[in-house]
Amino acid sequence: MIVLGVETSCDETSCALIDDRLRVLSNPVYSQLEHQKYGGIVPEVASRQQIKKIVPIYQECLRSAGMTIDDVDAIAVTRGPGLIGSLLVGVNFAKGLAFAAGKKIIGINHLEGHLSSNYLEHPDLKPPFIALIISGGHTLLVLVKDFCDYQLLGQTRDDAAGEAYDKVAKLLGLGYPGGVRVDKLARAGNPEFHKFPRAVVKNDPYAFSFSGLKTSVVMYLRDLPESFAENNLDDICASFQEAVVDMLAERCLRALDEFKMDRLAIAGGVAANTRIREHFTQVARKSGFNFYYPSLDLCTDNAAMIAAAGVIRLKRGEASSLGLDASAQLPLV
Ligand SMILES: Nc1ncnc2c1ncn2[C@@H]1O[C@H](COP(=O)(O)OP(=O)(O)OP(=O)(O)O)[C@@H](O)[C@H]1O
Ligand SMILES: [Mg+2]
Repeated sequence: MIVLGVETSCDETSCALIDDRLRVLSNPVYSQLEHQKYGGIVPEVASRQQIKKIVPIYQECLRSAGMTIDDVDAIAVTRGPGLIGSLLVGVNFAKGLAFAAGKKIIGINHLEGHLSSNYLEHPDLKPPFIALIISGGHTLLVLVKDFCDYQLLGQTRDDAAGEAYDKVAKLLGLGYPGGVRVDKLARAGNPEFHKFPRAVVKNDPYAFSFSGLKTSVVMYLRDLPESFAENNLDDICASFQEAVVDMLAERCLRALDEFKMDRLAIAGGVAANTRIREHFTQVARKSGFNFYYPSLDLCTDNAAMIAAAGVIRLKRGEASSLGLDASAQLPLV
């Protein structure tokens, strides 16, 4: 079985081909640069670009795998959550192609896609396990009871982890998107330079909250001269990042312990973070659990992860109809 994945939930445009053993045959991703000058994603700009890019990316995807649409058995497309205009580009493209070429279609939750990026590279990763999805718009801690069977343990009450990175980066004049820049600077910084608060949500030990951390960076810098932030960028980034890492790790370790799990998988754009990967690798070694993370290009949005979720669901006999629709707020559970 060959599955074509289609992903257009935010500002990426991606198509991928994978086989039923989850081997990636091609996975081109086009990332838009137009949003940098606005300091954030402009939805209308994103979807207009995707309308222009979806066909060339699809053609590149087939070409680099040396395949034609005749080789494809089914199409897996992100149907939510995400920006509605962007989602509609992918869903309508996939539906049109499925209808014209007579292929099966299956709508995929983008967050299940992120989670499934781990299955592409770690065939030994099988449920049950704990999953932490940390991306630009979401922060979720999930008990994966079985393939496609999730129990939501906690999510963010305000900003997502990636959003916190992007907001602090903007505050420090590092541009958008800022996660990767904060990561780079933090590598040379002292994580104990300043102790930023680690938020706890009352009566909800698995909930996350990052907006207070962002505010505390604002308050910390407010009374200091501008040159202070400029001269201590790496230390401030490292200290901010350490607070994020601590908050994520505390919830994950609690879940591993409470649910007696010995496997933790992380996914999403923020899973690309050097310190998060390093910290969990160390803790896993010490505490005796297995830690899984996707390679860098599978952390941020891509269609291979959507196709992976598609293969898993199609093998269970699932499929969508051509009445499939996009849903901006689609929940994972
Ligand atoms: N090395 C890194 N360290 C920290 N954050 C990072 C790193 N690389 C990317 N990010 C962050 O990851 C986010 C983008 O991830 P992703 O593409 O998964 O998000 P999204 O698709 O926009 O959101 P969602 O998946 O919730 O819809 C951005 O917030 C970006 O700053
Ligand atoms: Mg994403």
